[in-house]
Amino acid sequence: MPQEVRGVVAHKKGDPVSVETIVIPDPGPGEAVVAVQACGVCHTDLHYREGGINDEFPFLLGHEAAGIVEAVGDGVTDVAPGDFVILNWRAVCGNCRACRRGEPWYCFNTHNAAQKMTLTSGQELSAALGIGAFVEKTLVHAGQCTKVNPAARPEVAGLLGCGVMAGIGAAINTGKVGRGDSIAVIGCGGVGNAAIAGARLAGASTIIAVDVDDRKLQWARDFGATHTINSREQDPVEGVQALTDGNGANVVVDAVGRPETFTQAFYARDLAGTVVLVGVPTPDMRVELPLLDVFGRGGATKSSWYGDCLPSRDFPMLIDLHLQGRLPLEKFVSETIGLDDVEAAFHKMHKGEVLRSVVVF
Ligand SMILES: NC(=O)c1ccc[n+]([C@@H]2O[C@H](COP(=O)([O-])OP(=O)(O)OC[C@H]3O[C@@H](n4cnc5c(N)ncnc54)[C@H](O)[C@@H]3O)[C@@H](O)[C@H]2O)c1
Ligand SMILES: [Zn+2]
Ligand SMILES: [Zn+2]
Repeated sequence: MPQEVRGVVAHKKGDPVSVETIVIPDPGPGEAVVAVQACGVCHTDLHYREGGINDEFPFLLGHEAAGIVEAVGDGVTDVAPGDFVILNWRAVCGNCRACRRGEPWYCFNTHNAAQKMTLTSGQELSAALGIGAFVEKTLVHAGQCTKVNPAARPEVAGLLGCGVMAGIGAAINTGKVGRGDSIAVIGCGGVGNAAIAGARLAGASTIIAVDVDDRKLQWARDFGATHTINSREQDPVEGVQALTDGNGANVVVDAVGRPETFTQAFYARDLAGTVVLVGVPTPDMRVELPLLDVFGRGGATKSSWYGDCLPSRDFPMLIDLHLQGRLPLEKFVSETIGLDDVEAAFHKMHKGEVLRSVVVF
């Protein structure tokens, strides 16, 4: 029997979100219904609401979630009712050219069940990142559920479902930061601070946080930044060079995703260093760089989708490190809120007052 639950919908570009009744069908073959316990408010939700991702309104927002599997459809063997899971954006197919060459994080053929959720009028919803989790229960592909140690608190675990994984993975998986490396992270929100936490975990010895907000820089120190630069007060390229013997950092992560921050990242890295773009630009943005610099500075410019993560490999491992006290995921949770408070949380995010507001059910 389809169920009716409450969920957060963005109807129109720029309009405040509202809480609506959402119809959740029973899980079909390969699908699961998950009772969401917690879901973080990510900047990407705000991007959707602002029309910065696409205009397939109305959106069912929310995508950084953990919960308990309530029911599974035919053929589901990896998870069972009662399992504590983190939801991921993409259930990989195992058959496409990326999966076959052993890079399933680039899967071209991900399964998506969430588009079967509707409003009571029958109006279809576009689920944010194929999840849609500011909702009491959600329908996903079973491959979007990764079992982790249930000793972790849901509001902490859910953050690995997006921003925190994206940041940690941008540093470790995409940037391949390792012991003794230097890294600079531009933009120290949830994603950037996760990149900092990831760099510390990987053994980077110089970790430079760059932001325009001193509060964020203070938090960055708490996550492991060894140095901070307020780029409103100091040129970040010169600042990073000064802290790295004039060379630039081995890896620079742009966790803002704007032409100016990408350009800063491009020039703040060492010769043959790596730029990782993890912040998401909007369709109108352009960068202009001397092609000779792109050639002459060598190295790599990479983008990091979801931290190039493999949920089945990375989520349980990072939860275990957290439970051992080696990854302070709880520090990302600035506040826990109710489903009706998502719009207010967007304002707090916009004003830079929070790292993560997390809706708990
Ligand atoms: N690639 C992915 O897989 C992925 C996943 C999740 C989020 N994201 C994206 O990452 C970005 C960051 O997300 P978030 O949740 O951390 O957002 P956030 O709002 O919490 O943090 C953004 C930070 O950037 C800082 N900032 C803004 N302009 C700046 C500038 N010009 N120079 C330096 N710092 C600046 C802000 O002060 C803030 O601290 C967003 O674009 C989001 O959509 C990407
Ligand atoms: Zn695939
Ligand atoms: Zn997100």
